[in-house]
Amino acid sequence: MNQLKDLEIIPTRKALGAEVKGIDFSLPLPENIRSFLVEQWSKHLVLLFRNQELTQEQHINATKVFGEIQISAAKAYHTAAREKEVMTADYPEISVVHNLDKNGNPVMNNNSLGSGEVYWHSDNSYIETPPSGSMLYARIIPPHGGNTCFSNQYLAYETLPNNILKVIEGKTAIHDSSRDGANVARPGVKVPTNISEVLGPHHPIVQIHPLTRKKALYLGRRRKYPSQYIDGITEEESTQILDFLWNHATKQEFVWCHNWKVGDLLFWDNRCTMHYRAAHDKHYKRVLHRILIKGEKPIPSNKPKA
Ligand code: SIN
Repeated sequence: MNQLKDLEIIPTRKALGAEVKGIDFSLPLPENIRSFLVEQWSKHLVLLFRNQELTQEQHINATKVFGEIQISAAKAYHTAAREKEVMTADYPEISVVHNLDKNGNPVMNNNSLGSGEVYWHSDNSYIETPPSGSMLYARIIPPHGGNTCFSNQYLAYETLPNNILKVIEGKTAIHDSSRDGANVARPGVKVPTNISEVLGPHHPIVQIHPLTRKKALYLGRRRKYPSQYIDGITEEESTQILDFLWNHATKQEFVWCHNWKVGDLLFWDNRCTMHYRAAHDKHYKRVLHRILIKGEKPIPSNKPKA
């Protein structure tokens, strides 16, 4: 039986993240724990629950503690291209992040993020209404490598120099939908060859978090050129500013990295964090299940009055 008095919160002592002890998502969760966890999510941005033994249904129920579920946009590309996903779960709510080929052998590259680096991004930022949160559950983990790192985008925003703030506040940038986090083209999608071919939504570069009302930098994704650009300024200026912003937003002082064990369940906020996955040895299997929480259209922060 889960009881509020048994819960312990252990902050990472880094820029974000906390472990929550004393909870078992395979058991019923009273309302007071649910609201407590939502509060902790807003406070720490990423929550870690270790040693969870969950069926796929229990994973879905654990995610519903934080909101309504959203189906990953990546699935639509497979359907449109009539290409079967190499590995699916029993429920469409669950996406499988893995490095296996059609025969179940570990490989470097596939269409499910493979074994290489997964570049900094916020999940599904390439759609108009990105998910507010993501819950990732570790089923098979390699002996080393493959850590997932998170960066606090409230802090990234709060430490921006004034000259950059003046340019970006009130502006939007395009979130390139052509390639996934491992820089692999999505099924059936043509990779852009010039800036005018880049497809994706235009989101505010600074967004207001709908729950905390705090401002956060929202960069989302940037792949090899041509990819992301800032609207309303020259391409040259946009490249210079994006180079600066991406470097700033992923500085070590804003980052905490998680070293996975089987049974770990991580839940993060896509509106005020970005994440990155380090590469791992392609000879070992790595399989995780991910579920997304419904979000809202990013709320723009207005340009400050001169
Ligand atoms: C992701 O970027 O959503 C996957 C992260 C991971 O594989 O750890």
